[in-house]
Amino acid sequence: MELYTLNEVSKYYERWNIRTREKNINYVIKNLNLTIKDNEFIVVVGKSGIGKTTLLKMLGGIEKPSAGSIFYTNKELYQCKESEMEGYRRKEIGFIFQDYRLLDEMTVRENILVPQILDGARSTIAERKMKKLTKVLGISEKKDYYPYELSGGEKQRVAICRALINEPKVILADEPTGNLDTFNTELILEILLRIKIELKKTIILVTHDKGICKFADRIIEMKNGKLQEQNIK
Ligand SMILES: Nc1ncnc2c1ncn2[C@@H]1O[C@H](COP(=O)(O)OP(=O)(O)O)[C@@H](O)[C@H]1O
Ligand SMILES: [Mg+2]
Repeated sequence: MELYTLNEVSKYYERWNIRTREKNINYVIKNLNLTIKDNEFIVVVGKSGIGKTTLLKMLGGIEKPSAGSIFYTNKELYQCKESEMEGYRRKEIGFIFQDYRLLDEMTVRENILVPQILDGARSTIAERKMKKLTKVLGISEKKDYYPYELSGGEKQRVAICRALINEPKVILADEPTGNLDTFNTELILEILLRIKIELKKTIILVTHDKGICKFADRIIEMKNGKLQEQNIK
């Protein structure tokens, strides 16, 4: 089943050139076509500044394309009502980032529970889910720790728990191993692979690092706003 369909998606920024007093249009992404199937592990690789984060934000419902359309299942994302879009962001996708984005003043437990609280979930159910996830990801001993008391690998595992707790279909990962050493990079990639296989999630990971592609079903290279499928099998 096709989960995402991108048709001729472009993203550009208009800027006034103060010197020439002309309007410049800078394309980040130009006429991009892509389909992503349910339960795929996709890695998008490309140099810094090429538009990887922009692509993920567009898929995540937080950056409207300048032109073209993005379908999620049979719904055109940026055409639906704001309430539907909020539901999409809250229930269908989970984000993880290079810098973890945990809330410093909250414990591991509280960080993981945030999406459930925002979703109005019952606290007993939320607690149960949180306990299960921390156990699966090997951080159940750290539930009452604060982010500053954790290693990078542990922080990213907390962030993965938080991304999973609302049971989304898709994990969008923006350079998730960018701040980690080799050991933790491997660990996080293996966790993502297990999430794909055991929890049947779709993983879309963007990175500048070609070395982390080994678990991908598909590798797509981003170059000059265009995509190029890499042959891996
Ligand atoms: N608000 C903005 N205005 C103008 N240009 C922007 C804006 N946001 C992003 N860009 C440009 O988009 C390009 C791609 O950025 P990004 O998607 O973050 O790249 P990557 O994640 O691949 O490093 C960059 O050149 C950046 O300058
Ligand atoms: Mg980026």
